[in-house]
Amino acid sequence: MRIHAIIVAAGSGSRTGRKLPKQFESLAGKPVYRWSLDTFLADERIDTVCLVLPAGHLNEIRAETPGGHRLSLVAGGGERSESVRSAVQALTPADDDILLVHDAARPGLETDTITALLKAMEIHSAAAPALPMIDALKRRSGSTLETVNRSDLYRVQTPQAFRAGVLASALSHNGRNFVDDLEAVEAQGASAALIEGSERLSKITFASDFDKMGEMMDRQKT
Ligand code: CTP
Ligand code: MG
Repeated sequence: MRIHAIIVAAGSGSRTGRKLPKQFESLAGKPVYRWSLDTFLADERIDTVCLVLPAGHLNEIRAETPGGHRLSLVAGGGERSESVRSAVQALTPADDDILLVHDAARPGLETDTITALLKAMEIHSAAAPALPMIDALKRRSGSTLETVNRSDLYRVQTPQAFRAGVLASALSHNGRNFVDDLEAVEAQGASAALIEGSERLSKITFASDFDKMGEMMDRQKT
């Protein structure tokens, strides 16, 4: 059984409103994508890492990214799920291998999260970090509001872990784009665990996220 990390970094980052895709912007001293790449490469439990990039950035990133034989770079697709499919196809994992699929836009990945995911995968076929909802949740219907019970609702993050056979078959049976990779396997009734997520694992989505994430990464360095 081998463990593969997939970092999807092939998006255009349109919601940041910046020219350069967010994963290539500098954050606390290195490009956003390098934070999670370095965490995975430093982890000896991870056999291979597949970094998925926009086709136009492959050569440039290949030149600036050390990684040796454990790292492969592949071109992504127009939607996130296509980028994940490209990585799974390139890796050709065995069905019982573990895939850890991670957004490059979440630089705050720490080893403890990988450890908790791998532990959960000893009994489940999928696992992901999640945080409980803190704020009150409302559903608006016209001009009235209804309070939604938040006790069983979660904000789900990445990396999301899967038995490779489960994710590969879910993605190949349905060619659409999914909100996240868990959505692809939910319909198959796979047993999934939620482990404790963290604010540090939050995603950079808007330009305003860079400052608060930069502060968190500065703290991670010390
Ligand atoms: N991603 C990808 N391939 C795509 C779209 C997204 O690899 N075709 C990656 C992004 O690079 C990011 C992660 O998926 O690391 C999460 O996606 P998101 O935050 O939506 O990033 P973007 O799609 O790049 O941003 P936006 O939706 O604002 O354009
Ligand atoms: Mg997107």
